[in-house]
Amino acid sequence: MSMLSVQGLHKSYRGTAEPGEAEGRGSHTSVSVLKDVSFDVEPGELFTLLGPSGCGKSTTLRSIAGLETPDTGEITISDRTVFSGRDRVDLEANRRQLSMVFQSYAIWPHLNVFKNVSFPLEVQRSKNKLSKKQIAEKVEAALDAVDLGGMSGRSATKMSGGQQQRLALARALVTEPELILLDEPLSNLDVKLRESMRLELKRLQQHLGLTSVYVTHDQGEALALSSRIAVMNKGEIIQVGTPREIYQDPNSLFVAQFVGTSNVLNGTVERIEGETAIIGSPEGRVASSSWRDLTVGDPAMLMIRPEDVTVYTVSETPAEANGWKGTVLAGAYIGEAVDYVVDVAGTEMNCRVDPREHGRTGTEAFLHVAPNHVHVLPVSA
Ligand SMILES: Nc1ncnc2c1ncn2[C@@H]1O[C@H](COP(=O)(O)OP(=O)(O)O)[C@@H](O)[C@H]1O
Ligand SMILES: [Mg+2]
Repeated sequence: MSMLSVQGLHKSYRGTAEPGEAEGRGSHTSVSVLKDVSFDVEPGELFTLLGPSGCGKSTTLRSIAGLETPDTGEITISDRTVFSGRDRVDLEANRRQLSMVFQSYAIWPHLNVFKNVSFPLEVQRSKNKLSKKQIAEKVEAALDAVDLGGMSGRSATKMSGGQQQRLALARALVTEPELILLDEPLSNLDVKLRESMRLELKRLQQHLGLTSVYVTHDQGEALALSSRIAVMNKGEIIQVGTPREIYQDPNSLFVAQFVGTSNVLNGTVERIEGETAIIGSPEGRVASSSWRDLTVGDPAMLMIRPEDVTVYTVSETPAEANGWKGTVLAGAYIGEAVDYVVDVAGTEMNCRVDPREHGRTGTEAFLHVAPNHVHVLPVSA
């Protein structure tokens, strides 16, 4: 039984068509921002919607929250249908038993830490019949959970960015929701803090067993935090998988290029020898053992990650495939690695190598990639 099920969500906005994106005629333009969005989230997962700005992440999240009404589709939380286009169910946001954390974490500056966290409970007080003492206990427990124990008397505005972010999280936790929705919650923080908060959020989420849907356009954040990622583009989910699956086995050019850095080569399948497909490309022969559904003569799009390229400064025995000679165009020392751009017969290859390497711009470089690191992408995508 999944904690959250989203099936076949569609959403269009009227009258906001951009040139070339309009559907319909005359003044009745409509822009489709969600096109058949479906996914399931299991209990305890941190499920991320990842995609470029404007691809429909927030619209999806707001539809789950009940802040936006989809045109069609179904949304189920635990076993309760909270939205159904067909059955005309559209439960109010405050009855969906979830909390939302936004980018602008909306700390109330005139309230202290305690009041910021107790607010959702005070709002529900007549309904949930909590005593003052019970509210105080729940607030302290929520503050403890995010490492802000003992700070309830502080002024919220005197806290650091990271503390305010945790305060927003405590406020989301205090009602003990089944589901927490987070929309770019770290993007207002500076880089250093954002990276440490990533790990902190992940630990907290695992420790408390929270089920969350997390929205971000930051692929590094998505890889670091998520149980699973749904990569979105233009209102559609392109691929769903674990961070490893998404990074190592992208199902399309879009995912390969949006998540991480990739080298893409195009060619034609020359022959297949057991596990290995030999592809002829303008850069030379390429052998891949990481392919599906290919036959001789098929066009093939190949994807190689920079860290899977080995760079030699002296020529190895020339291999029949997967060995290229090139010239170092640029090298950037980034501390934990050196990033090279190597020109191979007019194609720029991105290579990430050991930081102890000292390849100089203009020198020769010999590249090699193991066949299992040459991924074949569907050409159509
Ligand atoms: N209220 C609205 N009226 C018209 N268009 C909207 C509205 N809200 C969002 N959109 C459009 O829907 C698309 C998806 O928006 P959004 O879900 O906010 O994207 P994301 O969160 O992925 O950046 C965008 O093109 C945006 O301009
Ligand atoms: Mg958004």
